[in-house]
Amino acid sequence: MSKLRVCVIFGGRSGEHEISLRSARSVLQALDPDRYTALPVGITHDGRWFAGPDPLGALEKRTTEGLYPVTFPSQPGRRELIPLGAGGRGDDLSFDLAFPVLHGTYGEDGTIQGLFEMADVPYVGAGVLGSSVGMDKVLFKLVMQRRGLPVVEGEVVFRSQILRDAEAALRIAEKVSGYPLFVKPGNLGSSVGVSKCRNHSSLCEGLMDAARYDRRVLVERGLEARELEVSVLGNEDAQASLVGEVVPSDEFYSYRAKYLDDTSELRIPAPIEPPVSDEIRRLAVECFKAIDGAGMARVDFLLERSTGKLYINEINTLPGFTSISMYPKLWMATGLTYSSLVTRLIELALERQAEKDALLRVYGGAG
Ligand SMILES: Nc1ncnc2c1ncn2[C@@H]1O[C@H](COP(=O)(O)OP(=O)(O)O)[C@@H](O)[C@H]1O
Ligand SMILES: [Mg+2]
Repeated sequence: MSKLRVCVIFGGRSGEHEISLRSARSVLQALDPDRYTALPVGITHDGRWFAGPDPLGALEKRTTEGLYPVTFPSQPGRRELIPLGAGGRGDDLSFDLAFPVLHGTYGEDGTIQGLFEMADVPYVGAGVLGSSVGMDKVLFKLVMQRRGLPVVEGEVVFRSQILRDAEAALRIAEKVSGYPLFVKPGNLGSSVGVSKCRNHSSLCEGLMDAARYDRRVLVERGLEARELEVSVLGNEDAQASLVGEVVPSDEFYSYRAKYLDDTSELRIPAPIEPPVSDEIRRLAVECFKAIDGAGMARVDFLLERSTGKLYINEINTLPGFTSISMYPKLWMATGLTYSSLVTRLIELALERQAEKDALLRVYGGAG
């Protein structure tokens, strides 16, 4: 049997470019060489796609030396990268499926998934809708509420409102609850633009800061909470892993705590009572289904210390995927090796494509 060619895509235009490179390094190492051949493709910070002998090594050095520019086909049937210049003409640029190892904007938000749909290429992870609802904190909250799933109270304030009449925006924000309040851009990640605000003036600063990143800003009641995370794997039959806990090194799980100092602690499994972890696992699968998730996701919870109440904070449809990231580590603790996890994700992508292929796409007397 010939090996499947997996187009592993990394880098990208988001603030999580470097994390993506680290995740991709782990995925490429773990691809089962008996079953798969990798076709690695790097996207630069400014959005150009490159193939060649070692795109990952090059992007890690912030160069495209030795690589050649390619583009992804947008029409169905042509499953091969298209060289844009003279480079790569003799290379085998064909692939059978795409594995986007991209986090955040243009990778996890449904945009690149739209490209895969246009090209009719099977791909790992959630589809356009699941990705975009999972990424968008405002829509996500509405969907959870509609499904009766627990989320923290919040309100949306628009950037235009904040810029036009900051005091009016502050009044809307302060209606959410007493302080502390959390302010975040509606559609970002990695805690960029997220702040914990303890009073009117810090709320004003928080709103201004978040509005630098997004048209919509979400304001939430700030909880004093433990942070619990669980990994989901599957399509419609999705399962949840053991539960893990993050103990942030900062006051909350900020950008600094995530990436700049390495002292945040991951506890696997989380020291919590079995009924709590059962409930988290159940809610995680419900959440995954509610957004029409596929393949994988990590669902993050807040467990309020004073009340013991669980809240779904967010879902990440392309979670950090290095071998020391929470998503694979939770599966490893549950009994799945990193490599078999990668294999399973590829199988799930193919299963989903097979299901799509079985659908009628031409209606009535179209001729
Ligand atoms: N309502 C809240 N109450 C308490 N802490 C919060 C709240 N919202 C966010 N946080 C803290 O901020 C961090 C980042 O917020 P999150 O919504 O997860 O955004 P991101 O998508 O950037 O990770 C969380 O991990 C948590 O530490
Ligand atoms: Mg988060």
